[in-house]
Amino acid sequence: MLAADRILPVVALDNADWATPLGAALAAGGVHTIEVTLRTRAALAAIRTLTDRTDLIVGAGTVTSAEQVDHVVDAGARFVVCPGFSSGVIRRCQRREVTVIPGVATPTEIQMALDAGLSVVKLFPAEQLGGLPMLKALAAPFPGLRFVPTGGVTTANLRGYLDHPAVLAVGGTWMAPAALLAAGRWDDVTSLTTAAVTESRE
Ligand code: 3PG
Repeated sequence: MLAADRILPVVALDNADWATPLGAALAAGGVHTIEVTLRTRAALAAIRTLTDRTDLIVGAGTVTSAEQVDHVVDAGARFVVCPGFSSGVIRRCQRREVTVIPGVATPTEIQMALDAGLSVVKLFPAEQLGGLPMLKALAAPFPGLRFVPTGGVTTANLRGYLDHPAVLAVGGTWMAPAALLAAGRWDDVTSLTTAAVTESRE
């Protein structure tokens, strides 16, 4: 699904009640995959609510421990995203048979991901690491590896990443920023998502 959409909205929900309107707003914008970060206490409840939607594949982000893997998989998460590389998280994901996308920022971390049998990594934080030139430099020695650049990605710069053959998809919070969620501006979330999806297909 991520390979088809090539856009992964990352959401942090302060209130689990927002999950239903947010899911509807993102789906209306044309995405089919969503990452709910564990940065808020409402995250697990939000994952449970969002998995009710048959048109969305729900994953969990900011997963940093094996215990959290169990929690999010039990809540219905279909994939796990991490800010960095953790052998414990990856092993637990593999045992629970759930896709895991670890964060990488260096060639060493990429080699650790390859050693773990993975073929997709999150380049994080992509823009702060140097953006597209950094992605190109890291991708060159690792043919076959696919990246999900995240961190500082917006509709304004996603095209450059998506044009690179090593990029599977881009992720980020720009489609569902905290201020819009807090204000219940769901139509604006849909507009931002539609703009991103349109740009990704140009
Ligand atoms: C993440 O959790 O993946 C990042 O915080 C997303 O970064 P962004 O807010 O710059 O999109």
